[in-house]
Amino acid sequence: TRKLIILTDPGQDQAAAILMILGAPAAFEVLGLVATAGNIDLRHTVANCLKLLELADRPDIPVFAGCPRPLTRDLVTAVHVHGPTGLDGPDLPEPVIEASPVHGVDFIIDTLRKAEPGTVTICSLSPLTNLAMALVKAPDIAPRVHEIVAMAGAYFEVGNITPSAEFNVYVDPEAARIVLDAGIPTTLLPLDVTHEMLSTRARLDAMRALGNRCGVATAEMLEFSESFDLGKYGWDGAPLHGPCVPAYMLDPTIFSGRHVNVSVELAGTLTQGMTVADWWGITDRPRNAFWVRDGDADRYFALLLECLGQLP
Ligand code: BDR
Repeated sequence: TRKLIILTDPGQDQAAAILMILGAPAAFEVLGLVATAGNIDLRHTVANCLKLLELADRPDIPVFAGCPRPLTRDLVTAVHVHGPTGLDGPDLPEPVIEASPVHGVDFIIDTLRKAEPGTVTICSLSPLTNLAMALVKAPDIAPRVHEIVAMAGAYFEVGNITPSAEFNVYVDPEAARIVLDAGIPTTLLPLDVTHEMLSTRARLDAMRALGNRCGVATAEMLEFSESFDLGKYGWDGAPLHGPCVPAYMLDPTIFSGRHVNVSVELAGTLTQGMTVADWWGITDRPRNAFWVRDGDADRYFALLLECLGQLP
């Protein structure tokens, strides 16, 4: 069983990822959710984390509020995609549980210091602000992390929030650079692969047909956020980003990629937040990440449905 700290700013696709994780209890033990400012402000991402845990009937999992903004920049949100609550679509239960009073950054540090070295995986679905803050505050935690698996970046599929940058890196590029430079084994699930994972009508119908409240709510959430992406891309379905992270951890054979150097553009006037992957090994910069480029969408959605089907 992998012990996970989940960094998240849900977001419908991330809701699907969190529920997928909760639907695989033999594979994952969730130590806590760290709510991040990103798709929407921190107040809403905390509330959305709590709502998802109520939905999945997992009030035992703690939620920690992280930093209210990126390290050096003003927050850019994506409420145009996710709606005014950040998690529009179904009527989700108002949470009875409350967030922990402990700060998300301190939770990351304390958890990694207490756990056996190499036993905790950081599962990042969001901007990397809180992990970067933790690494700055407590550099001793870096060698204690087993692995970072993050939905972040884009190279072959360029950008989604600007022509050259993926949202999670664009929101806090300094944080992404700190994390990539920390010497921790890292796998990135960029738009290159998530753009292959299209939530087509048939796949959403199959999700709804699971009939359980988590399956139906996930289908309703994705239908909401789809409407934005369908207009934008003109594809047969919207790319389903977040669940690529748990899917990779559950079955890496669904995916393929390459160990490369990934550097983050901080200063470019047109390319801020771009993740430059040295795919052909042109530089002598160190290989700091496994860059996932492709995946099998049918196997991905089958695994997602299998996990969602285990939930209430
Ligand atoms: C990422 O951006 C957010 O809007 C999604 O939730 C996902 O984490 C995709 O670029």
